[in-house]
Amino acid sequence: MEIQKAIDSNKKICILAYSVTDAIEQKLHLVLERILYKYDHPKLISPIYTCVKELLMNAVKANFKNIYFEDYQPQTTGDSALDYQLALKLFKLEMSRENAGYLEQLARKWNIHVKIFFWVENHIMHVKVINPAQMTSQEINKVRQKLKEASECEDIAEYFIKADDDPEREGAGLGLVMISMMLKSLKLSHRNLIIATDKESTQATLIIPLNARYAIIE
Ligand SMILES: Nc1ncnc2c1ncn2[C@@H]1O[C@H](COP(=O)(O)OP(=O)(O)OP(=O)(O)O)[C@@H](O)[C@H]1O
Ligand SMILES: [Mg+2]
Repeated sequence: MEIQKAIDSNKKICILAYSVTDAIEQKLHLVLERILYKYDHPKLISPIYTCVKELLMNAVKANFKNIYFEDYQPQTTGDSALDYQLALKLFKLEMSRENAGYLEQLARKWNIHVKIFFWVENHIMHVKVINPAQMTSQEINKVRQKLKEASECEDIAEYFIKADDDPEREGAGLGLVMISMMLKSLKLSHRNLIIATDKESTQATLIIPLNARYAIIE
């Protein structure tokens, strides 16, 4: 099988996704399963799968949001922040429809996709999720702040109590916090998740050491 061959010969693997479907989820799980079995870390499959799936959902959501907001122009008069919040509410409603089918169709038509790359170098697994849009500096700052706050909390409950509510949040706003907590419970840190953005894309990379020193403590 292709995936197994690529893993055996230590080749980079790429999954291309327009949305989060069952088929994509299965492929994602299979790739992680094969890599983590190869390096004798089957216990990492579930937590890492959960983290990568969250990164994938964020990337797909960013693509859909860009498609949805393609024609959106903030009003120059009136309260543009409120205006944006209303547009965001409509977007959330659109996303909550089954499979957000219409946005997926447009993503396919315009070839706006997410790429997930997997590779292992010196016993360190990298999973990089790329979507073709730049995050605004405001979004990046919010993410930084969120990850910083999460790193200072013991668990999600503590984060809930401490974090401020953000009227412009797109979902529950907990995905990246969950990843940060998950990394902590694997004796890693939020530094094992790197989010970078440039003119062409946003890239979220998970860095997971697979050597014995980092084996999960049971
Ligand atoms: N790949 C990405 N491209 C663009 N923006 C992103 C990307 N990943 C995250 N973001 C931004 O970071 C914010 C926080 O992400 P996070 O996963 O923590 O929360 P959420 O996706 O809004 O809500 P939830 O994960 O609880 O459904 C997102 O709302 C989005 O603005
Ligand atoms: Mg999310």
